[in-house]
Amino acid sequence: MFKVPPIAADRLPGLLAAAPKAELHIHIEGSLEPDMIFALAQRNGVALPYASVHDLRRAYAFTSLQSFLDVYYAGASVLLHEQDFYDLAQAYLARAAMDNVARAEIFFDPQTHTARGVDLHTVVGGLHRACTDARQNLGVSASLILCFLRHLSEEDAFATLEQAMPLLDRIVGVGLDSSELGHPPEKFARVFARCRQLGLHVVAHAGEEGPPAYIWSALDVLKAERIDHGVQAVRDAALMQRLAQERIPLTVCPLSNQKLCVFPGLAAHNLPQLLEAGLAATVNSDDPAYFGGYINDNFTQTFAALPMLTAQHAWQLAFNSFEASFAPEADKRRWQQQLQACFERHADPA
Ligand code: HPA
Ligand code: ZN
Repeated sequence: MFKVPPIAADRLPGLLAAAPKAELHIHIEGSLEPDMIFALAQRNGVALPYASVHDLRRAYAFTSLQSFLDVYYAGASVLLHEQDFYDLAQAYLARAAMDNVARAEIFFDPQTHTARGVDLHTVVGGLHRACTDARQNLGVSASLILCFLRHLSEEDAFATLEQAMPLLDRIVGVGLDSSELGHPPEKFARVFARCRQLGLHVVAHAGEEGPPAYIWSALDVLKAERIDHGVQAVRDAALMQRLAQERIPLTVCPLSNQKLCVFPGLAAHNLPQLLEAGLAATVNSDDPAYFGGYINDNFTQTFAALPMLTAQHAWQLAFNSFEASFAPEADKRRWQQQLQACFERHADPA
């Protein structure tokens, strides 16, 4: 482990911003900013249940995951054409580049779009073109993760996988998102087994609002390589031990947890506890347009609210993000070296 040199506390926010990092938990539909929702609604002639940006923003007072998802799916209804998906992903990737994101693994929800008659080729075509351009124009490496909506049936997930078959070279893996409670991972055992056979990486949301049992079954039944959120793991000592021992990454999203009332506030977040227990936690934005900040906001606000978090933790979180990514090993090692160099540059003068 790299021993972080002494760094004055007032330099920490600058360091958090400057550090190269990977973002592994970002729903592209959750990066749809209110201004873009209204611009696309106008461009595509879609009627919205909100009169203005101000009116829409007033709906962002969430009390739970479901209260957010209702607004999130309404927002996504403006996405119709390949160019819409391109514009959305391009805007996110340009914003991520400003936060020194070197690698982004981007979730998308095909069923949200195919249910409205949008072809999966249109969705993946636009998103993938933005990922390709980002490498060239922004220096950001980006890949796509197709998420199944867990409030729908496994049969529906299989139908989505079938539609995705000609597009598999454009996605790096599959995930599981949407309403967690009442929809345990094991509901999707067969479709995830098929995805693994196809050589896809596998991740799953578990333990955001749901119990530790959902994290166990994401690992044991779905064979998830990373757990998205996972913050409820602290309720189960044996699970914490397993996550630490196997270095299973958790993609933690502090501002999301705050907005969806998973914790009463950032000061009550359990990120320090996860790190102290030796878990491979990472920091991510989830749905930045809805939760009040992109990845660097997540880092700086969380560190400001939790003064026990140090520069050593900052380095560990960014290091973990590369370790946990599905990028080629050579890229991961290069980014980790850049991370170390960044911390050395920020060290206090000897
Ligand atoms: N949890 C589950 N589903 C989601 C989320 C989330 O945080 N964001 C977008 N879809
Ligand atoms: Zn999520």
